[in-house]
Amino acid sequence: MQVPFLDLQALYREDAEAYDAAYHRVMDSGRWILGPELSRFEAAFASYCGRRHAVGVGNGLEALRLALVVSGIGPGDEVIVPAHTFIATWLAVQQCGATPVPVEPDAGSFNIGPEGVKAALSARTRAVIPVHLYGHAANGPALEALCAEHGLVLIEDAAQAQGALWGERRVGSFGQLSAFSFYPGKNLGAFGDAGAVLTDDDGLAHALRQQRNYGSTHRYAHESLGTNSRLDELQAAWLQVRLSKLDAHNARRSEVATQYAQHLTHLPGLHLPQTAPGSQPVWHLYVVQAEARDALQRWLAERGVETLVHYPKAVYGFEPFAAHRPTAQTRSDQICEQVLSLPMGPHLSDVQVMYVCEAVRNFFEAHRP
Ligand SMILES: Cc1ncc(COP(=O)(O)O)c(C=O)c1O
Repeated sequence: MQVPFLDLQALYREDAEAYDAAYHRVMDSGRWILGPELSRFEAAFASYCGRRHAVGVGNGLEALRLALVVSGIGPGDEVIVPAHTFIATWLAVQQCGATPVPVEPDAGSFNIGPEGVKAALSARTRAVIPVHLYGHAANGPALEALCAEHGLVLIEDAAQAQGALWGERRVGSFGQLSAFSFYPGKNLGAFGDAGAVLTDDDGLAHALRQQRNYGSTHRYAHESLGTNSRLDELQAAWLQVRLSKLDAHNARRSEVATQYAQHLTHLPGLHLPQTAPGSQPVWHLYVVQAEARDALQRWLAERGVETLVHYPKAVYGFEPFAAHRPTAQTRSDQICEQVLSLPMGPHLSDVQVMYVCEAVRNFFEAHRP
């Protein structure tokens, strides 16, 4: 049996009629950029997350960078970021001329929390960017309180957690600004690149609309130094279809996670992902930890099970950010040596999930100490 990590073609096939209808609607409309499809998607996604405004942009990196730009963050400023994340979180800070300051994940979690952030504050700290990693919400309310106390901007990196909850509140509703990626493999993904920034602040929303379109919200009236980072009409039309399926897809991901947890529990040498009390994850990834990670990954590959490593290094482990590397081994270093992402997605069948579980169990039986 072959178990692919994620089956994106199946997503298209499942709703091909709706995607094709959206395509024809846009092609017949003659509007490709900043038209009604984008407005409809922005309104629907803002409402889904419990925010007043969503501003569609070109991708998740631009969503983060523009959120920092409209917050006035630049050279001389420090921005707190997780050590363990995708490189985009750091790149956005770097591209504004500010300095990323890494915080290690909390023990037993992959996310940063208020204690770690507090310890990293300095007189130059201007903003905090928590990442809701792997689909698990970071503690939004506690981070909001900490940022309010210290006069900091809170910008969520919600790229991996569309639909996740902390208590009653959705990811995308915490802090001043929330940055999303709709990269195809995300829980809410486009069929190309796309992203959005969410906010409740009318002024920030206006500034974001200017920034994404050459500093202009009216043709040839350029009021700020902007860029070109727009979410096009086709992607916006397809994203409306994907959004209508998001809760159902997340529910299926949750069933898969429950099956993994049931069938992989109590294997000596294997650590399953923990869910923080009050958090309702959307299982963007199902990430286990094993000291024998590389051997387990090879074993699974030989049996047709595709797995990935998110991520092989903490961001300061990569050459461009080597100057930020602490001298001692960190929690992120240890996590990166042990993490393995099992196949996860709405289109995994029960039979495929059971096959993965059996292959993992067989590995640990064959390698009993
Ligand atoms: C945590 C995180 N932040 C930011 C991004 C950047 O998004 P994009 O690839 O759309 O630029 C991604 C994914 O790619 C991500 O996983």
